[in-house]
Amino acid sequence: MKILVTGGAGFIGSAVVRHAVRAGHEVVNLDALTYAANLANVAQVSNAPGYALEKADIRDRARLDDIFARHRPDAVLHLAAESHVDRSIDGPAAFIETNISGTYTLLEAARAYWVAEGSPETFRFHHVSTDEVFGSLGAEGQFTETTPYDPRSPYSASKAASDHLVRAWGETYGLPVILTNCSNNYGPFHFPEKLIPVVILNALHGRPIPVYGAGENVRDWLYVEDHADALLTVLENGKVGRSYNIGGENEARNIDLVRTICRLLDERRPDGAPHDRLITFVTDRPGHDLRYAIDPTRIREELGWRPSVTLEEGLAKTVDWYLANEDWWRPLLDVAQERRGTGA
Ligand SMILES: NC(=O)c1ccc[n+]([C@@H]2O[C@H](COP(=O)([O-])OP(=O)(O)OC[C@H]3O[C@@H](n4cnc5c(N)ncnc54)[C@H](O)[C@@H]3O)[C@@H](O)[C@H]2O)c1
Repeated sequence: MKILVTGGAGFIGSAVVRHAVRAGHEVVNLDALTYAANLANVAQVSNAPGYALEKADIRDRARLDDIFARHRPDAVLHLAAESHVDRSIDGPAAFIETNISGTYTLLEAARAYWVAEGSPETFRFHHVSTDEVFGSLGAEGQFTETTPYDPRSPYSASKAASDHLVRAWGETYGLPVILTNCSNNYGPFHFPEKLIPVVILNALHGRPIPVYGAGENVRDWLYVEDHADALLTVLENGKVGRSYNIGGENEARNIDLVRTICRLLDERRPDGAPHDRLITFVTDRPGHDLRYAIDPTRIREELGWRPSVTLEEGLAKTVDWYLANEDWWRPLLDVAQERRGTGA
């Protein structure tokens, strides 16, 4: 299959690109190369036959039309977005423009291309979204695919809007759309403004490890390589018009997650132990959702997919990757320094 991956130089998109190329697919990586992109993330596959990079903005209709016409993809896997909640609170405009207007422009370009190709039923527009569109849970319950939308940050509101657009293009124009809503990802190549890389790198440098509030917020952590695998499973076997929730079956309070990372570092770098002495509680983020949890029954029962690693295994792999890949993260620290991320 030839897949047009948008946002393929970002954290999750690059995992999808690496995974898809290794699975034998042709991949067109369409990315505007914003601060969040890094071509080193796809260096392992960038010489593979059938891989192409297109530096383009999803808001640029003329560029999109040209890319569709030249590459003639069988599917679009749409990940390009502004993705950091803290940035959306400081400056929501970019989130409205890329996540809403950009998704609209991409949908229109995909529809025009699909119609020109004779409206093939096999075409797919797969939109990658987040569980944050469902709002916040209390101590009990899980998000299912029918949970009402209740976004609470500029980021999640912009993602919710894009989900509605994608569904509407499926219903109104018959474009063969599929959606996935996943929980918080972590793993290799995660930009060092997000919670897990911030914890690892601050601990390594003996700097305070910032934790919002009392660290009581609960997230359902999904290893990025598992997410990439799930996305290709849904793309290949999911039902048109349907959405699938993807979770890691790995709920953890932020404070417990941070303590686990500190323990993994104590084992690997005993000279800095105990790393949890660096934990510093900071003023909570406004509108900070208490708990997200995914009910993954649909993807498990319909498509036979489930995560391959536990949180402990995934975190150990992630810590080992950051310890072995200083060349990757060192140049990014200045960009991330502008904004000491404390949330995912
Ligand atoms: N990271 C998570 O935990 C998580 C969880 C659920 C859903 N998601 C969703 O998955 C997708 C990917 O997330 P991520 O964490 O990899 O994000 P990321 O910020 O690491 O990467 C986003 C990529 O999109 C590109 N991009 C941004 N604006 C663009 C534009 N206007 N045109 C073209 N490219 C543009 C960036 O250059 C970057 O490479 C997003 O849609 C996000 O909402 C992420």
